[in-house]
Amino acid sequence: MSAPNKSYDPVEVEALKPEEIDRVRNEALAAIAAADSLDALREVKVAHAGDRSPLALANREIGALPPHAKADAGKRVGQARGAVSKALAARQRELEAERDERVLVEEAVDVTLPHDRVPAGARHPLTTLSERIEDIFVAMGYEVAEGPEVEAEWFNFDALNLGPDHPARSTHDTFFVEGAKGGSADADLVLRTHTSPVQIRSMLDREPPIYVVCPGRVYRTDELDATHTPVFSQVELLAVDEGLTMADLKGTLDHMVQSLFGEGMRTRLRPDYFPFTEPSAEMDMVCFRCRGESVGNPDRPCRTCSSEGWIELGGCGMVNPRVLVACGIDPARYSGFAFGFGIERMLMFRHNVEDIRDMIEGDVRFTRPFGMEI
Ligand code: DAH
Repeated sequence: MSAPNKSYDPVEVEALKPEEIDRVRNEALAAIAAADSLDALREVKVAHAGDRSPLALANREIGALPPHAKADAGKRVGQARGAVSKALAARQRELEAERDERVLVEEAVDVTLPHDRVPAGARHPLTTLSERIEDIFVAMGYEVAEGPEVEAEWFNFDALNLGPDHPARSTHDTFFVEGAKGGSADADLVLRTHTSPVQIRSMLDREPPIYVVCPGRVYRTDELDATHTPVFSQVELLAVDEGLTMADLKGTLDHMVQSLFGEGMRTRLRPDYFPFTEPSAEMDMVCFRCRGESVGNPDRPCRTCSSEGWIELGGCGMVNPRVLVACGIDPARYSGFAFGFGIERMLMFRHNVEDIRDMIEGDVRFTRPFGMEI
């Protein structure tokens, strides 16, 4: 093993000359101060404090010095390296703080800005109105009942006391389903012209007392125009129990219009004819907009009721005993009341919709203002 070289003088080793150490230290400090990003600082660190940096190389030279020179050179190099690593850490903190501040500004989210939310759509107001009506009756203990839209003629007409030769049968402009005739007349199918056949189905399926509300789509061969559509919606109501009278019907109707249109709403019944109810009536409600105040008052005309004070809702009556019998219910023991009305019409006067086509065209600009009712 060779002995340390006694004649080896640190001043003679270029890298360990005090001026040289000062120079590389100053160079490192200048580079650190000039680093303007964390990436740049990382490169500066490799160049001036890494394994192959001038100070690291100088440090390695110390081992070869004679013992008396080691301490001095070691101190000088050590101080220089310490100063560089301190400066690196300080600059690192500075640049990190700058970055954090910049990120806070650049990535700030203004939660008050208008946003491009994908529209969630809206439920159709016919659906929500129909469900609201169902809810009124469900709250009174009624059941929701449904029936098929392609219906046997027997349910749509015959069982409702509308026999094949009944004149009222022709007032329903019926869509007949082609090829449905299966030999027996009962097998004829139609697109149901009203929701009343669900009354029959409900009575055949259940024992009295029966309380059902039947919403659904119905069809008639009407041309589509501002006030007619061949496909529309009805809600039907049927109650069969012991001792039901027209007073129960009237009270039920009043409760419905008050729930839908507000306190103080009333209904009135006008004599009418339907084969499946006896007696039958046309039901009107007080105009919920003018509350009758437009009647005889030319200064305050009302477009909703044409200043008549009443709005026609639909048909109603006491279930015809012949219908009860057709469904196997004893009319001597039970009586019933029923009513049915169109939802499109109600939506029109309730919300000032002037053209029924708006309800069926599926344009979200029509449905959106009704909101996203659940
Ligand atoms: N089904 C009838 C129609 O569509 C409306 C109707 C009238 C229903 C009287 C009833 C009723 O339940 O009792 O024209």
